[in-house]
Amino acid sequence: MDLYEHQARELFADHGILVPRAEVTDSSQEARVIARRLGGRVVVKAQVKTGGRGKAGGVKLAADPAAAELTARQILGMDIKGHTVGKVMLAEPVDIEAEFYVSYVLDRAAGRFLAIASAEGGMEIEEVAATRPEAVARVPVDPAEGVTSAKAAEIAEAAGLPPATVDVLVRLWEVLLREDAVLVEVNPLVRTAQGQILALDGKVTLDDNARFRQTRWGAEAAEHGDQLEAAAAAKGLNYVKLDGEVGIIGNGAGLVMSTLDVVAGCGARPANFLDIGGGASAQIMADGLSVILSDPAVKSVFVNVFGGITACDAVADGIVQALDTVRLTKPLVVRLDGNNAARGRAILDGRRHPLVQQVTTMDGAARRAAQLADAG
Ligand SMILES: Nc1ncnc2c1ncn2[C@@H]1O[C@H](COP(=O)(O)OP(=O)(O)O)[C@@H](O)[C@H]1O
Ligand SMILES: [Mg+2]
Repeated sequence: MDLYEHQARELFADHGILVPRAEVTDSSQEARVIARRLGGRVVVKAQVKTGGRGKAGGVKLAADPAAAELTARQILGMDIKGHTVGKVMLAEPVDIEAEFYVSYVLDRAAGRFLAIASAEGGMEIEEVAATRPEAVARVPVDPAEGVTSAKAAEIAEAAGLPPATVDVLVRLWEVLLREDAVLVEVNPLVRTAQGQILALDGKVTLDDNARFRQTRWGAEAAEHGDQLEAAAAAKGLNYVKLDGEVGIIGNGAGLVMSTLDVVAGCGARPANFLDIGGGASAQIMADGLSVILSDPAVKSVFVNVFGGITACDAVADGIVQALDTVRLTKPLVVRLDGNNAARGRAILDGRRHPLVQQVTTMDGAARRAAQLADAG
């Protein structure tokens, strides 16, 4: 799970990394009050889980509390690369003398971490990395040894960072280690005119395998775009939100993946997908359908099940019972194949729900779901 900038900032501060004073709000009126508290002049920053906010107009300096309110009103609700801005962070403006880039990232292929650092940080870091890769140092970090002062000095030296950054590099490793992160990134890490080293932006990706002990983010994870994913996860379902209009439910990761391809091949775009795994009880079907149907982008739903250990008649029973508890608002196309397919189809036919149709082939069912989404 990615954290918001304001959450990353909180973790940095907890581990002794200096950050500008800042507060978060979802209201432009409150932004004015916060700006006054922070001394008047503030940087208004969109809180979305994507980079490049500055270039997209999501990071703006406001000269006084009234300007902060106006700027917050502009930024709240803004769309940045498909992410709607629900909150802004107001931060004290910092007198920047130099901008650096530092990150630690898990290098799965090499089985270790990689420190990436550059003395030319800031909004153009991608450009720097692409055109002058020698300006970006890459130093392997052994996970067992971690980033000691000596290692941090080696990283700073390789990237041409001032010695004052060594302490921050050690503390940033502590963030990664103690908070179960697989990525921590500070861009920019700045040196102020007064010679302080401050983290002005932060990205942290937590290791989802350690989610059971990341209790701190439980409620936050359910916010904004993650709401449906969190609801699904709470029910033990694997749900992923996409950009299209056909909702997809399938059993097993492989079948779900090929269902996405087949739907895309019919000229429609998957709205999401949900893997119900091996089980397809009435409860799982009801949970799955209610998650999929609460996505307003969904125009039709394609349930694609290949009966194996879970037989199709059990799946059909599950769908029929789910139809008693979930109000179906969109057409549902069901394709049942494999173990006990004929009995499953008969059970669904017997239910005679006006919004449920069956198609026996995967391609045919995908085409139908695509047509219905197009018409809906
Ligand atoms: N508190 C701040 N004071 C002064 N300048 C800032 C502050 N926060 C951000 N900036 C400037 O805005 C730029 C973009 O902000 P940043 O938080 O890095 O967003 P993003 O990386 O998403 O574009 C930074 O590179 C920095 O130059
Ligand atoms: Mg940045």
